[in-house]
Amino acid sequence: MELACGPASRYQLTAAMIEAMDPAPAGLIIASPANPTGTIIGHEDLAAIAAVCQARGIRIVSDEIYHGLSYVGPTHSMLEFAPDALIINSFSKYFSMAGWRLGWLVAPDDLREAARAYVGNLFLTAPSLSQHAGLAAMDDIVELEGHVATYARNRQLLLAALPELGLTAIAPPDGAFYIWADIGHLTDDSMGFCKRLLADTGVATAPGVDFDPVDGHRFIRFSFAVSTPEIEEAIGRLIPWFADQALS
Ligand SMILES: Cc1ncc(COP(=O)(O)O)c(C=O)c1O
Repeated sequence: MELACGPASRYQLTAAMIEAMDPAPAGLIIASPANPTGTIIGHEDLAAIAAVCQARGIRIVSDEIYHGLSYVGPTHSMLEFAPDALIINSFSKYFSMAGWRLGWLVAPDDLREAARAYVGNLFLTAPSLSQHAGLAAMDDIVELEGHVATYARNRQLLLAALPELGLTAIAPPDGAFYIWADIGHLTDDSMGFCKRLLADTGVATAPGVDFDPVDGHRFIRFSFAVSTPEIEEAIGRLIPWFADQALS
């Protein structure tokens, strides 16, 4: 079952939504910071979600793959509030190792053997070369924090440019490396819009329909996980293109 999360809840689940679910589900998946919005569930709201899940016997699966990529202070792990939660993480984001197929799961004692059996049957083990690369990446915090500084700079540049693109309705860009923007004043076909944008300017964005089959037709996702010169170049191409769209 999917729950609709809009701007009123920063595109995130709330404890009240979980409280209202009837019947209570066996489990619940949350992601903070989230893809495609980048929004973060605050410390108190995480605690409230954990409390309602504990009271209703709902197992939490917390996807924390964007931890370390926050522009509004430290991110809190669900483990702080729900010791029996399943925590998912990966080397793909903070460690910049997308494609290396390396991640981890923190499982509570009662699920450890079941998790081991699933992992063993589904893919046996993560590639050993990737595990060695992961060890090296974990020791290079200076380089990794340099990436975060680049994303922070890119985010500022993009946020400053958005009004010039006429994009004023965005999700709070707390973390990850995305901006989720409403383009409903320009189109109700985000897929066609992104295709035209790519063909005309060479700038790739993700259409909202990739993430949200209900309202995604009027949203677009920008990623700023590139170099700062690339962001500057992209913004230079986007401004005249969006100006043309507003006129046509
Ligand atoms: C929220 C979230 N979870 C999980 C993944 C999967 O990452 P990977 O399979 O590369 O570890 C992604 C990738 O974009 C993501 O955005």
